[in-house]
Amino acid sequence: MSLQGKHILVGISGGIAAYKIPELIRSLRKAGAEVRVTTSRHALEFITPLTLQTLSGAPVYSDVFAAINEHATEHISLPDWCDMMLVAPATANVLGKMSSGIADDALTTTLASCAARKPIVLAPAMNDKMWENPATQQAVAMLRTWPNITVLEPTEGELACGVTGKGRMPEIDILQEAIECALSPKDLSGRHVLITAGGTEEAIDPVRCISNHSTGKMGFALAHECARRGATVTLIAGPVALAVHNPAQIHRIDVVSAAEMHEVCKQEWPKADLAILCAAVADFAPEAAATKIKKQPGQTELSLSLHLTPDIARSLGETKQAHQRLIGFALETDHETENALRKMEQKHLDAIVLNSLRDAGAGFGVDTNRVTILTAQGEQHSLPLQSKADIAKGILDALTNH
Ligand code: PMT
Repeated sequence: MSLQGKHILVGISGGIAAYKIPELIRSLRKAGAEVRVTTSRHALEFITPLTLQTLSGAPVYSDVFAAINEHATEHISLPDWCDMMLVAPATANVLGKMSSGIADDALTTTLASCAARKPIVLAPAMNDKMWENPATQQAVAMLRTWPNITVLEPTEGELACGVTGKGRMPEIDILQEAIECALSPKDLSGRHVLITAGGTEEAIDPVRCISNHSTGKMGFALAHECARRGATVTLIAGPVALAVHNPAQIHRIDVVSAAEMHEVCKQEWPKADLAILCAAVADFAPEAAATKIKKQPGQTELSLSLHLTPDIARSLGETKQAHQRLIGFALETDHETENALRKMEQKHLDAIVLNSLRDAGAGFGVDTNRVTILTAQGEQHSLPLQSKADIAKGILDALTNH
């Protein structure tokens, strides 16, 4: 994830989950962000200012009246400085104070002056009984009505007090995803996007299959970016070992074969405004044997007869309505542009994203890609080698402004 140049203000309140925040600060800085930290007094019972200062590279603001404060009004200057604020862990106390406008320490005064102007993500963490407290639930419900506030759902699991229940702070990757989401433009708000990702597996017999090297990374990066920008996403995924970061906005449907992917795509396409077909779908599949194919004595070869699978892109293209846009991908090894343009035309695509296996670091498996976007209007946008997350941003920037 790239947070290059972003200013992130991390607020920490007094809960045991505070011990995880140094790891988050490291991860945010690794992603290119500048980080400042403000804490409640009680947070410093769980974590030292020296740790936070060392990792963030800046003084920690935890006492409104401390003589060492740079400006004496950090609760105003920090909200001005930041692009967004995260509070993690957010205790029942902080949620209650924030929802009632109480500002009586460094953290809550800073939150109060951020609340009307900047995106804020709150990550509650507490004992399950405190989470169920009607006062906490009321505070959360109210905060969720504020336009710029996201309150994450605590997760279920073992709590610090030893019981199992709902109240754990979401993991660091979920917090980072929520930060990315808060910082993203909401230009796909109200849109429904269908995305296919990963390869397909075509059974030879109950034990073996024909597949390809797609990991789903490119398609999942697109799904995450669309969700960050406010879209409702239907992600139709072949067999891949990836998880969705924000399940609330991404409805994932797992499939195995090209035929299955085709069936699900046909059902989901009428609901979508935009489809991005990133999956590497098998073009041919064998007739699957009912039982495991055995080697015969003296046998040196096995021939498989393959039949053509449905062309999903083409079938969606043929039923495309005036308001719908259809984007395909092309993975090529030679005559790249020529092949991609032919596919765009044959499949009735509005644009095609070309990646070539001749480019180092592009295509299957790797975390990076390099693509050229070709549109039916004859436009061409090239995106240099970068992470698949940044490629996904570039594709959406190019195509949503198109
Ligand atoms: O998953 P990763 O490891 O991150 O790798 C990403 C990727 C390389 C798989 C991805 O970037 C990519 O290029 N996906 C498309 C690969 C491909 O199969 O291209 P194609 O040229 O065979 O197909 C062209 C288009 O038709 C694609 O949009 C494909 O989804 C679609 N298609 C193909 C065959 C078929 N039967 N039905 C289809 O809809």
